[in-house]
Order: sequence, then C-alpha cells, then structure tokens
Amino acid sequence: MIDSPSDSVASDESPKRSENGQFVIFGANGDLSRRKLLPALYRNHESGQLHEGLRIVGVDRHDETDARFQARAVAALAAVGVSEADAGPFIRRLHYVNIGDSTPADFEALRDRLDTIEREADLPNNRAFYLSLPPAVFTRVLRGLGDVGLNRADGYARLVVEKPFGTDLATAQALNRTVHEYFKERQIYRIDHYLGKDTVQNLLVFRLANALIESSWNRDRIDAVQITVSESLGVGTRAGYYDHAGALRDMVQNHLTQLLTLVAMEVPESFSADAIRYEKLKVLRSITPITTDHAVRGQYTAGVIGEEAVRGYREEEGVDPDSGTETFIALKMFVDTWRWNGVPFYLRTGKRMPRKSTQIAIRFREAPVRFFQSMGCHQDTADVLKITLQPNEGFSLHFDIKIPGSPLQLERVPFAFNYVNHFQSGLPDAYQTLLLDVINGDQTLFVHAEEVEESWRVYAPLLENPPPVVPYPAGSWGPAEAVSYAIQETDLWQSE
Ligand code: BG6
Repeated sequence: MIDSPSDSVASDESPKRSENGQFVIFGANGDLSRRKLLPALYRNHESGQLHEGLRIVGVDRHDETDARFQARAVAALAAVGVSEADAGPFIRRLHYVNIGDSTPADFEALRDRLDTIEREADLPNNRAFYLSLPPAVFTRVLRGLGDVGLNRADGYARLVVEKPFGTDLATAQALNRTVHEYFKERQIYRIDHYLGKDTVQNLLVFRLANALIESSWNRDRIDAVQITVSESLGVGTRAGYYDHAGALRDMVQNHLTQLLTLVAMEVPESFSADAIRYEKLKVLRSITPITTDHAVRGQYTAGVIGEEAVRGYREEEGVDPDSGTETFIALKMFVDTWRWNGVPFYLRTGKRMPRKSTQIAIRFREAPVRFFQSMGCHQDTADVLKITLQPNEGFSLHFDIKIPGSPLQLERVPFAFNYVNHFQSGLPDAYQTLLLDVINGDQTLFVHAEEVEESWRVYAPLLENPPPVVPYPAGSWGPAEAVSYAIQETDLWQSE
C-alpha cells in the first residue's frame, strides 16, 4: 500500500541530496546503457551534479577489464558528440565486473569487488543497482543480489528496473511479489522514462502553481482530454519483443496511462513522492475498466512517410506474417471521480504515423452562446490548451480573436510558450533527471508497485477480449474507425 501522505513522515528512507556511493549497471554493454545511461550519467557529471567520488560499475557477461569497458564508454560518448578529452574525468569513475553465468559464486565475486572499490575509494555503503536486463534473467539476478546480501546496506541499497513490469495483471503481481522478497518498495525505482521528460513535470507545475488553471481543471470547464503519442518509426529491430507486446502493452499501459494520471489527479497534499503517487493511484482506481467497444486497434501496411516508401508491419523482419499485433490503438476512457465524471479521455498511439509527436490537448467547454455566429462568423468557441511534450516542447492555448478591419471575422490564434525559445537551451534527457533522482533518493517520478497493478487492471478486459485489428497505411493517422476517438471539431490529432 502506498503510504498515505500523513504516513509518509514515518518513511524508512527520506530523500537525500547526491550522496556518494556506487551506481551499478547490469547489462552495461547493452544498447540502453550505451545510448542512454552512460550519456545521461556523463551529462550529470559534466553539470557538477554527481558527487565527485561516485563510482559507476558496469556489470555484464563479457570477460573484460576496466580499461576495455572504459574504452567502450568513450565510444558511446563519442557517438553523442563528447570528445575523448572531455570524457576523461568521467571515464575515470568507471569499473567493470564480469558476472559470468550469474552463479552464486559470481555474485559473491561481485560483492567482494564492490566492497574493495568502496574501501579503496573511501565510499560510504551506498549502492544503486540498475537492471537493464531482459525479463528472462531478471529473477535470477534479483535472487543473486539478495542471496549475497547486496539488497541491504548501511547507507542505501536501491534497485532500478525498466519495463516491462509484467504482461498482464497476474504476471505483474507475480513480478512484484518476487521483487518484494528481496527489496522493500522504498528501495525500488521503476522507470517510466516519460515521467523524466521535463515537460511532463512542468505539467504539474503549470496546474498547481497557476490558480487560474487549477480552478478550471474540472468537468465544469473541460469537456474532453486527448493524449496522443504518434511515432513515425516502425517496429525496427525490436520485432522479437514487439510482436508479443503491441501498442497497448508497449505504450498505453505505461506511458500514456502515466500521463493520464498526472492530468487527472487531485491536488496532492505536498509535492512529495508519497503524496503524488498516492493521488495517481487514486486516479487509476477510479478508471472504469475499458471494454472492447471503447477501443480501436490498427496495424500498419506498406505506405509512404515523407518521401520514404516503407513496408508493412507483417513484412518487417522477425514479425509473424499472420501477426494480429496492434501497432496503433485508440481508446476512450472515463475517470469516475467528482472532478472528471462524464469527461472523455481519448488515448491514442501508433507507429508509422506521419510524424513523431507527443501531445496532451485539453478542450474547454464552449461559451454558452455562440455570440458571433449570428453575424455570420464561423465560431468554434471551445478554447484548447495543447501541451507538447516532444518535439518543440511547450504550451499553447488556442482562442478566438477578431481579424483587423471589417466585416467582422474571427481567427483562432495561440498564446504560446516554447521551452527552447524561452530558455535558449535544450531540455535535459529524461534519463538525466531519473538517474539523478535515483542517486538522490527521490521516488516522485518512479512508478509504485500498486500503480503498475492498477493500470494492468484497467486494461484487463481489452487484453482478454481485444477488438479486431484494422489495417492502416503507413504514413496515415491510423484507421478511419478511430476518428471518433479524438477531439473532433479541431484537427488536433494532425496539427503541431
Ligand atoms: C518505449 C517503447 O518505451 O518508448 C518504444 O518501447 C517507443 O516502442 C518509445 O518507441 C517511445 O519513447 P519516446 O521517448 O521516443 O517517445
């Protein structure tokens, strides 16, 4: 059970600022480590946010040395534009341990090596273990850590895990049980990288720091919410995983649902991890479980994106030629609370759409009278707030103004705020934020075990009884059947 806000005072671990210790990456030679984790840690180092003594220990199954792992890291950083000279001081933080076949003896050797590094570098007994591993080896590694006591520390022992957190409610519950055999919820950091995106965090600030917005944030003022994640990429090289997952498991149950909870939650008692996660959990518990008649699934066929002709999903390498996996899904959901009763939440995501875009659109209720229509003006009186999470991160509120001169005509224009224009710099990568939070012991942006289970519960009827998959050409906005699963009067789904 998530501590209710008043219980949180008694938490066994309160947030700390950048403590010294060891950050241990399992799967250190893998794709995520190379593309995201090492670059994110480097950026945190570069901006002075890592304690200078912090060590990073790569763990993998290759028989190699610290020097070889450091050389790999130099190459990984070069790929994101960091020179070898600039990388130097960061690289000196890195060590490597070969975990072999993950036998008990291998874990004892790991423990001994971590103890040695700790002693030699005079570090406190603080360790974070990031499991960047396929689900098949996950339990074995958990047990390995637990059996040699690496799940406990005088300072902290934290566990960082990536999705998938199960494939349905039953598997998620089983996974949570296994993890809890060795680690307490206070020690566990479940990553949903969408929560690390700066614009997502700004959504809360926007709501809670601006009384005008929060006072309008309810069913009296808002008549629909739309959360869209479109991607132009296809399944790429991940068919082995994706063909068993599909858009609902890959994107909706986690990323889109997390966005929904942040939009829909009540004002938390404080800006603390417990208070925020408690409110998010309450939203999940209030969602009416979704049924087949409130969902459209699609699968891309061959088409053109920009200038590029691309093949259909079933022709992709590694995909079953008769696959029934959805690469697109649109849902209509209801959050049955005092605040949101009757307001539809449209969730839509798909691969091989015309472009990449992540956006939350809030449509406010129309003015009670279409005042200017009687004067022959076309008038769409619903104001729409768009929160763009990527690309061109920013906020815009669309409303009507008068076009200069006569006859009287109206035009829809945005009040806009764009991060890059305003701050003259890019936003940090989500992993920079999240890894720093792990090191600092702040669980606010991580998913609680109960959130995982509740979000699987919401989609259980759909997983048991999925609607048929409808084809849509790559480069389109999904099947025509899904058109009614969007805010209709505006073309938000298709506009920037
Ligand atoms: C991942 C999914 O979690 O998120 C991918 O597994 C998807 O299929 C990716 O492409 C999208 O993330 P982002 O940050 O690029 O929107």
